[in-house]
Amino acid sequence: MRSLSVKLDHTQIHPLLETATVAARLAGQKALEEIRYTKTEIKNNNEIVTNTDRVCQDLIIRRIKENYPDHGFLAEEGPGGGIFKQSPRGADNLWWVIDPIDGTNNYSHGNLCFTVSIAVVYEGRPVVGVIFEPATESMYTAAYGMEAQLNYSHIQVNNEQINPFASFAVDSHFGPEHAQGIMDIMKRTRFRTLGSTALHLSYVARGSFIGCLAIETKLWDIAAGSLIIQSAGGKITDLNNQELLPINLENYTGQKFRLLASNAVCHDQLSEIFKV
Ligand code: IPD
Ligand code: CA
Ligand code: CA
Repeated sequence: MRSLSVKLDHTQIHPLLETATVAARLAGQKALEEIRYTKTEIKNNNEIVTNTDRVCQDLIIRRIKENYPDHGFLAEEGPGGGIFKQSPRGADNLWWVIDPIDGTNNYSHGNLCFTVSIAVVYEGRPVVGVIFEPATESMYTAAYGMEAQLNYSHIQVNNEQINPFASFAVDSHFGPEHAQGIMDIMKRTRFRTLGSTALHLSYVARGSFIGCLAIETKLWDIAAGSLIIQSAGGKITDLNNQELLPINLENYTGQKFRLLASNAVCHDQLSEIFKV
């Protein structure tokens, strides 16, 4: 594991992780309560958002600010369809990166595959990551120097090569340049798509999928999942097999990431299939 230039010790990491899990659980429960009567609208002409996305995001940020009023925030649902961003004010220089509902399309149709994703980012990389799937009460967690867990039990990636019984997940947004690779992996594995990139990353981390591909993700889709995958022994890169992070949060305005995540053992082989 890389070392941090200023050491964040366990006395700081534990409360951050605790705050993230509490906030994710609160938001997830709220989302479940509202799933049958939430109101859907279109933002930025082509994206779905529900009023519950905003309610959950407010709930998460308010909860975190009770403990960390001076930390920075980067979250998906900002004013006028933009992002929500507040730079850190204190000496900590920590950012909370939040997707209140990952899988809004599913959510807005009453499909229970959706998650809450919260990361704490330090020096451009996640040091805490939490993904909560409320429908199954599954809390995936990781923190700097600690193992990945699902509901407090250790998880790790599987060790399967590409094979016809292995599951590989592909997100639903991709361009023609990726079609050949996707056709290839569809023929060689059991192909899956659950509608939440954060859930795909969690499934790789728990050993249920050998890997996943996502072409149109934003930082809040992947910040928590990337730490959870790496802490579970997996690998996450761009499509040229290069590291995705660190990222300068001050400059981030919603640029997209194209990512390949895997159990690490088949990463190079997968990367050959999807390289651009
Ligand atoms: C979406 C999901 C989906 C991915 C989209 C994301 P949202 O997040 O992660 O899997 O295909 O690119 O926008 O919009 O439901 O938070
Ligand atoms: Ca998302
Ligand atoms: Ca979202």
